[in-house]
Amino acid sequence: MVRESGPRSAKFAGLGYYLPERVLTNFDFEKMVDTSDEWIVTRTGIRERHIAKEEEAASDLAINAARKAMADARVEAKDIDLIVVGTATSDYPFPSTASIVQREIGARNAAAFDVAAACSGFIYSITIAQSMIIAGKVRRALVIGVETLSRITDYTDRTTCVLFGDGAGAVVLDPCESGEGILATCMKTDGSYTDLLYQPVGGSRTPLTEERIRNREQFVKMKGDGLFKYAVKAMVGAAETVLRDAGLKISDIDFVIPHQANLRIIDGVRNRLGVSPEKVIVNIDRVGNTSSASIPIAFCEAKDKEIIKRDDLILMVAFGGGLTWGAALLKY
Ligand SMILES: CC(C)(COP(=O)(O)OP(=O)(O)OC[C@H]1O[C@@H](n2cnc3c(N)ncnc32)[C@H](O)[C@@H]1OP(=O)(O)O)[C@@H](O)C(=O)NCCC(=O)NCCS
Repeated sequence: MVRESGPRSAKFAGLGYYLPERVLTNFDFEKMVDTSDEWIVTRTGIRERHIAKEEEAASDLAINAARKAMADARVEAKDIDLIVVGTATSDYPFPSTASIVQREIGARNAAAFDVAAACSGFIYSITIAQSMIIAGKVRRALVIGVETLSRITDYTDRTTCVLFGDGAGAVVLDPCESGEGILATCMKTDGSYTDLLYQPVGGSRTPLTEERIRNREQFVKMKGDGLFKYAVKAMVGAAETVLRDAGLKISDIDFVIPHQANLRIIDGVRNRLGVSPEKVIVNIDRVGNTSSASIPIAFCEAKDKEIIKRDDLILMVAFGGGLTWGAALLKY
């Protein structure tokens, strides 16, 4: 049903991000597993990543990012109607991390839930929140991408441990007219490849047992090669879909913010789309792969450095476990 009146979209009214203080460099990994700074940089583009303290849970990171986004938007917690948190590493199996954020920031009028879409969590979450704003179900939403991937990373497995980092990024979404804010979104899933990236143990299929823990099955497993091939094609397809839906060309775009999984994936997407390097926001060298947090962290950093400015046209594109992928086009 198309509403006769009311908002036609949602805009980014404020942004914030948070990275834990502790940093693990490639040189730290040289002391932990059989790897080298040279291998990690050439294969992934990553030099360092932030790791949460033992007492820091996903909600702690999320709350820090959320408070900054609310300050940036000059919004009070009581005026938020919806909190959506994209995460694969929530505080507890349940309740949701969004519920804990709601309690801690005092957003007493907000409904809150998590979205499980792995590295595409932020794109999925802003799409859901924007749809609810357009439908008139809520007026203002707080959307957060947060991960504490260090908690599910096997630091004896060199093929995965060097990739992941912790962090959170948040955005306040306010209603707006058509032609402003989020111009187009796209969400895609292919459940045939769930085994390319997953956490095998800890859910209802294979609950935690002592034996499974001994076998280190509670940690994330990844077939990097298969993911790599799929990722570039999928991300380019999603980017082309939102450009077409918004009636825009890639040359109209001021900045592309891709999910930061691997610099070679980012370069592959950039080449296939035909975008020059200075138009692509990259921070993977300093933060690694922060899954659902990667796009809002990169966006907010670029905004704080005044690289991204109001009215810029931004193409965000993500890919992750599920497999899930998607894109969003924004007039910031
Ligand atoms: C993981 C990834 C960096 C590996 O790069 P790659 O060029 O494909 O490397 P391969 O997996 O072919 O491994 C090549 C060799 O390097 C080794 N290797 C893997 N990790 C290593 C490390 N950290 N240090 C040194 N050697 C390593 C492998 O064991 C393999 O050795 P072998 O040939 O003796 O078996 C890459 O596949 C990737 O980034 N994939 C996508 C991952 C991703 O995006 N995941 C998240 C999606 S949201």
